[in-house]
Amino acid sequence: MTLWAGRLTETDAKVRLFCDSFPFDRRLYAADIQGSIAYARALERAGVLSRKERVAIQRGLERILVEFKLGQFVVAPGDEDIHTAVERRLTELVGEEVAGKLHTGRSRNDQVATDLRLWLLSELPGIEAGLVGLEQALVGKAEGHLGLLMPGYTHLRQAQPLLFSHWLLSHFWRLERDRARLGDLKGRAAVLPLGAGAIGGNPWLSDREDLARELGFERAAENSLDAVSDRDFVAELLFFAALCGVHLSQLAEDLILFSSPEFGFLKLDERFLTGSSLMPQKANPDPLELVRGRAGRLIGELCGFLSTLKGLPSGYNRDLQEDKEPLFLAVGTLKGALPLLSGLVEALEPEPRRMREALEEGALATELADYLVGKGVPFRAAHRAAAGAVKRALELGVGLSALPLEEYRRIHPAFGEDLYGWLDFERAVGRRASPGGTAPQRVRQQIELAKKTLKEVEDGNLS
Ligand code: ARG
Repeated sequence: MTLWAGRLTETDAKVRLFCDSFPFDRRLYAADIQGSIAYARALERAGVLSRKERVAIQRGLERILVEFKLGQFVVAPGDEDIHTAVERRLTELVGEEVAGKLHTGRSRNDQVATDLRLWLLSELPGIEAGLVGLEQALVGKAEGHLGLLMPGYTHLRQAQPLLFSHWLLSHFWRLERDRARLGDLKGRAAVLPLGAGAIGGNPWLSDREDLARELGFERAAENSLDAVSDRDFVAELLFFAALCGVHLSQLAEDLILFSSPEFGFLKLDERFLTGSSLMPQKANPDPLELVRGRAGRLIGELCGFLSTLKGLPSGYNRDLQEDKEPLFLAVGTLKGALPLLSGLVEALEPEPRRMREALEEGALATELADYLVGKGVPFRAAHRAAAGAVKRALELGVGLSALPLEEYRRIHPAFGEDLYGWLDFERAVGRRASPGGTAPQRVRQQIELAKKTLKEVEDGNLS
């Protein structure tokens, strides 16, 4: 028998099986109980419950919390979702005379929206800690290897030499934007729906701000009709997770590629590798591949949930029950991936020799063009001349630094002996000293800024 059976004959078993959400929303138990205890207090303040009744309800709910925590909660037929399951059990424990009053003025519509927000708010610190942990790992590595050169790529072809630290920090800043986005969505998640009732409000509560504060929300929702159907906070979290997932995937891809034997720029700690059931020599980056792979699912959850929302008429509609599984999946994925990546980055070892050997002199062609610019040649003409030198070197099968001066002079008369001094990887990196550039002093500044940002996060000065 369901709590709402009232005017209806018992619903078909197949329908119940299809509609029940308890198998997945049971994980909201702590939030549901927390919300109910606060609501019971609000009903006491409103004179609906006596103090004795409120205490009995609270004790009963606290006992149910323990039953869930110990895995001793026994499900009964009719427990279609977490709210009905808790209410049914409370009725068993304290009797319907008292338990039957708890739902006064409340609907599962405002209840479930409250539960889900509470649950998400309790998960946000863990996600943020995971992000900050990975950010710290990246900055720590960058600081520990300042000065190390590696090839930088565009289109997966060598472009210009970079500092290894600069590459690491490029991943830091993406994650730092994600962290800021998370802080931003928190404010919109911390709005209390409870008191909205089914759609029109609650006849018993004259004040919802107390309730909001007691539950850790920043304020109560302004419009009851909006409040029961507002799932922006879910969509925003899913977007955050999808974009963060994309960033983690890109980091994973760089790590997979650069640690492959063909590149050999990085050595991954064996704790983050897995073997093959057939090929004894293998040490595969499966965890990184799963980080990359799960980003696809995160994007899918965002698209799926937005599609669920798009055609809904005003008010609560049961479609909204579909908000939970995507949210749980997104939060669970990030909570798994972030610490994994932090550990992996911390244990990462660069291979300076391989990075140096991989640097191609072609990546210094921009230096040749800049050299000519210094001699007063317009950049376009300088670019053509440098390209001519690259072509000639390829024809002769030599590097740019082994191409004889007469060859350079034939290409452009402004080339002189001093050009060879420019064909130097350290010098190329050092010249890119614009703010945000890869020159060592600028990267050092970047590290300081990154550390300052993380310190402010730690001190709670940044949202
Ligand atoms: N289990 C539902 C959900 O997750 C809440 C119940 C509201 N149901 C209803 N028929 N009004 O959204």
